[in-house]
Amino acid sequence: MSSSTQERSSWSGKWAFILAGAASAVGLGNMWRFPYLAAKYGGGTFILTYLILVFTFGVTLLLLECALGRRTGLSAIGAFRHFGKKFAFIGVLASAVPFIIAPYYSIIGGWVTKYTFAYLMNGPAALADDGKFFTSFISSPVESFVWMAVFMIVVFIIVGLGVDGGIERANLVMMPALIVMAIALVVYIISMPGAMSGVAYYLIPDVAKFSPELFVSALGQMFYSLSLAMGIMITYGSYLDKKSSLPHSVANIGMFDLGVSILAGLMIVPAAFVAMGSGEAVAAKSGPSLMFITLPKVFESMGPQVATVIGFLFFLLVAFAAITSAISLIETMTSIIMDGKGYSRKKAFTITCVFTFVMGIFINLGFNGLSFFQPLGKGSTILDLFDFVSNSVLMPIVAVLTLVFVGWIVKPKTLIDEIEVSAPFKLQAAWSVMVKYIAPVLVIVIMVAYVGAQFG
Ligand code: PHE
Repeated sequence: MSSSTQERSSWSGKWAFILAGAASAVGLGNMWRFPYLAAKYGGGTFILTYLILVFTFGVTLLLLECALGRRTGLSAIGAFRHFGKKFAFIGVLASAVPFIIAPYYSIIGGWVTKYTFAYLMNGPAALADDGKFFTSFISSPVESFVWMAVFMIVVFIIVGLGVDGGIERANLVMMPALIVMAIALVVYIISMPGAMSGVAYYLIPDVAKFSPELFVSALGQMFYSLSLAMGIMITYGSYLDKKSSLPHSVANIGMFDLGVSILAGLMIVPAAFVAMGSGEAVAAKSGPSLMFITLPKVFESMGPQVATVIGFLFFLLVAFAAITSAISLIETMTSIIMDGKGYSRKKAFTITCVFTFVMGIFINLGFNGLSFFQPLGKGSTILDLFDFVSNSVLMPIVAVLTLVFVGWIVKPKTLIDEIEVSAPFKLQAAWSVMVKYIAPVLVIVIMVAYVGAQFG
């Protein structure tokens, strides 16, 4: 099937793999969802719940996906088909996710890129006008299109240079830069007058806020943030040599992602707290409006020079996070087409780029030319529809199917053998129980809770 096996890419070593996994995981989810969820669900209470989930459920699934990829040496569709033709559909569903996410993720990537430059070109005051700047930008078909294209071209060039020549090198520059910028911003922000109350609000657990809803939100966030159930980690695992320890690698990826989420909260929650005066006010803001409307106002209040530097650094950091995640999407899509069709890397990559670009134009029209089309109710956009289908419909379904498939059909033992090729796997009994029983039940709980919330 895969006539392209001989040109299959590989990581230069374990740390390149860990960095790539972390680069995929650290993205917009860490920057704009985690801080807001923590603010909403009692700070430390949410952080602690999330931490426990990442190191139980999250690493279980990460390990499963990476082992499946390495065992079969194939991306998602091929990996499932390897165990029988009738299982290929699970891979098809998983593979659909990056094809849906890549175009709209690039649109948001374009907004972030635009803001990074706008701090230098327009100045911080222009961005802090209660959303007028943002609205007029996204509703201009040409401007928003141009910035989406800029973002995509950067990502395409990096992936086009190959796994070791492009992706590894880009990660090696962008990930450390991201950490340094995040730490610098945190230090500056928490030293502002009044910021410490925000830090306290963010870190000190408010146990009364623990609720089933918190738990379900933490679980959903973990999924998205660790890039699970979208075939990415299967592809990345398929590029990994047999010497590298999988449990050690996935534990590092989990830690990296969690660390950046906590840092993101440490800059965003106290900053917004200073501007708005209460944690509840911060919690009420989420997603795009927090990032593109509230934060620019917070930055502006720091005075023109400081605001320019802080705003620029902040959006550059977010742009790096978005670029490295988008890279993992484009690479996975390329790999899926190569394995599935037996095409050369070049041909598969070209198809991936054209698809992403054309779909991106279409989704972007949802903010201007096609804004009358509001698929999920008043005010919703085509982007919301794509986000909904991938995150709320496909990802949980793929997760349950994958867990049942490995837990009950392939059997955990098959993947434990793969994991043990590199080193003894001490936690194998616990891992099997997680895969067979606990994890699938938890995912079904999220789905039921979600559906319940829609109709309840
Ligand atoms: N983990 C990413 C984030 O937190 C989500 C993502 C991963 C999106 C891979 C696209 C591709 O933003």
